[in-house]
Amino acid sequence: MEFQLSLKSLKNISYSIITGENHLGKLRDLINNKLNPDKSIIITDENVYNLYKNKFHDQLIKSSKNFELIIIPSGEKSKSQKVRDELENQIIDYKPSRNTLIVAIGGGVVGDISGFLASIILRGIRYVQVPTTIIAQVDSSIGGKTGINTRHSKNLIGTFHQPSLVFIDFNFLNTLPEEEYMNGVAEILKSLLIGSPDGFDFLESNLNSIVARKDNVIKKLIEESIRVKAKIVEKDPEEKNLRKILNFGHTVGHAIESLSGYKLKHGFAVAEGIIVESYISHIQNKFNEVDLFRIQYIVDKLKLDKQYRKKYKFEKALEKMSYDKKRINDQITFSLLRKIGKCDYNKIVAPEIIELAYNH
Ligand code: GLY
Repeated sequence: MEFQLSLKSLKNISYSIITGENHLGKLRDLINNKLNPDKSIIITDENVYNLYKNKFHDQLIKSSKNFELIIIPSGEKSKSQKVRDELENQIIDYKPSRNTLIVAIGGGVVGDISGFLASIILRGIRYVQVPTTIIAQVDSSIGGKTGINTRHSKNLIGTFHQPSLVFIDFNFLNTLPEEEYMNGVAEILKSLLIGSPDGFDFLESNLNSIVARKDNVIKKLIEESIRVKAKIVEKDPEEKNLRKILNFGHTVGHAIESLSGYKLKHGFAVAEGIIVESYISHIQNKFNEVDLFRIQYIVDKLKLDKQYRKKYKFEKALEKMSYDKKRINDQITFSLLRKIGKCDYNKIVAPEIIELAYNH
């Protein structure tokens, strides 16, 4: 399937999001014939490289022009200022020109740090996102948010820099560990809650198939989530307004993730955020109680809620929330559900209500 993402407000930038299976050869052709760089620098991580090195060499690097390869350690710790410095120098060692292409093959960490470097090296070069996890396929690879973490919170340093292509190969999902797979399902749940009532119904009626990792179900859910995200980014590429709804579940989610020292995976932190923020939506935004129970049932059935919030006092979580990028005049704001598939943004919520929902 091919989606076109057109950003009229950003000098008419437009790029494709292509999904398919076992089609890395097509990526090679698109790079050679369409993007036509003087050199491509693949950035990937150790896990992905060890699993796919033969495929990379046979289908991508062999018979391509001028490919270089950089492998970074796997895991969230690589999204750091230290790894950024190291990677920056490695890229510069390859003498990139303005026509050099970065090809980020990996999960959100690889995509975010590679995109960030592509945005600042020579004041900006092109990059391609090849997301290998569900969470990256439905969210982080699309829409041009790049970034690294600081000791205070996630993604506090970053840029908007749109990729030239997002290339998705569902084959990568076959080697995803169980935990990483369900981590991605949490982000799918968020996407459908904010933008696709039909997608949400489909997810709700296929919970057993999701747990059984039925290919046709997960592909359909991923493609629907991509559709939701692309539509939102087209309307508001730089998160001035509507794009804030993509952060539903993330105000609380990021706080819990950060308190856990990033031991809790992003999607599971977001699942806890979805529970807390759906409850706030019910108290403050007329979100229907029956739908609140439906969400709770899905999260429980898929075992997405790891209950990390019970380990941290509300005050600690609130302090972390104060770093949230959506805050306005030092007030924490939320994206809140109005109904399934419809989300509002810039909602100021009193700390007492957040506390009530956090502890309920
Ligand atoms: N992950 C939220 C966004 O891309 O806006």
